[in-house]
Amino acid sequence: MESFSLEGKAAVVTGGNTGIGRAIVELFAAHGAKLLVAHFKDQERTAAWASELEARGADVKVVECDVTDDQSVARLGDWTRRSFGPVDILVNGAGVCSEIPFGKLSVADWDQTMAVNLRGAFLVTRQFFEGMKERRYGRIINIASQLAYKGTVDAAHYCASKAGLVGFTRALSYEGAPFGVTVNAIAPGPVETAMLAGFTDEWRAMKFAQLPAGRFGQVDEIAPTALLLASETGGAYYMGQTLSPNGGDVML
Ligand SMILES: NC(=O)c1ccc[n+]([C@@H]2O[C@H](COP(=O)([O-])OP(=O)(O)OC[C@H]3O[C@@H](n4cnc5c(N)ncnc54)[C@H](O)[C@@H]3O)[C@@H](O)[C@H]2O)c1
Repeated sequence: MESFSLEGKAAVVTGGNTGIGRAIVELFAAHGAKLLVAHFKDQERTAAWASELEARGADVKVVECDVTDDQSVARLGDWTRRSFGPVDILVNGAGVCSEIPFGKLSVADWDQTMAVNLRGAFLVTRQFFEGMKERRYGRIINIASQLAYKGTVDAAHYCASKAGLVGFTRALSYEGAPFGVTVNAIAPGPVETAMLAGFTDEWRAMKFAQLPAGRFGQVDEIAPTALLLASETGGAYYMGQTLSPNGGDVML
């Protein structure tokens, strides 16, 4: 469909080698975008997968980046400007999640979650935002979580980081909008990825019971929302929004 074409667009996706990010990369590539997949310490597997995508006709480059480290993120920005070209679309997909009761939550746990989920989005966005403004075009998509809205037990650190990301999204969208740069977020419900692999059976059963959908989502049920927000026509009138493919977990 024309509204969702990404032909001629270049996209950077952090956390783009696994889970939700990976599904977004595959969908964007299928819609004509050139992709830069930023992975974290997963060069070999990411490069092998990128080769498979290239064999299917996609244009995919791979680069390593620790989004918590401003030097590493600066290198990502430099490399991208030098070797990849102008970026039209940025997906901040890198994230970490852990289940820790507040009484046991260490400062290190809190800081690490904030560093990946919130500071990481700030650092990476900073590398591309001004360029997008200069070219008067951009699509920034932050992967938040429905837990930003509803909260949950044993995840104060995660919920705070994702609520921060929703606020960041809204605030930055005011600065981007006059320059044709839209900033939006996606707040998925629970999705079957490695992120949920470590959670207990009790937790899964509790979540299934709460969810109107009665099941967790699949990555392919999240990626189309990113395509909508990334597309030139379809995404143009979304600004500061957080869209919620969440199985009915939160109804706003
Ligand atoms: N799976 C879910 O239920 C769910 C629900 C709502 C939101 N999310 C969010 O979706 C996003 C993707 O998660 P996912 O479920 O696909 O899990 P995932 O574990 O497959 O993806 C997380 C990615 O973040 C990367 N990452 C972690 N630390 C990093 C760092 N320091 N620097 C760079 N990258 C780093 C990981 O390498 C991985 O690729 C995350 O932001 C997550 O919080 C997931």
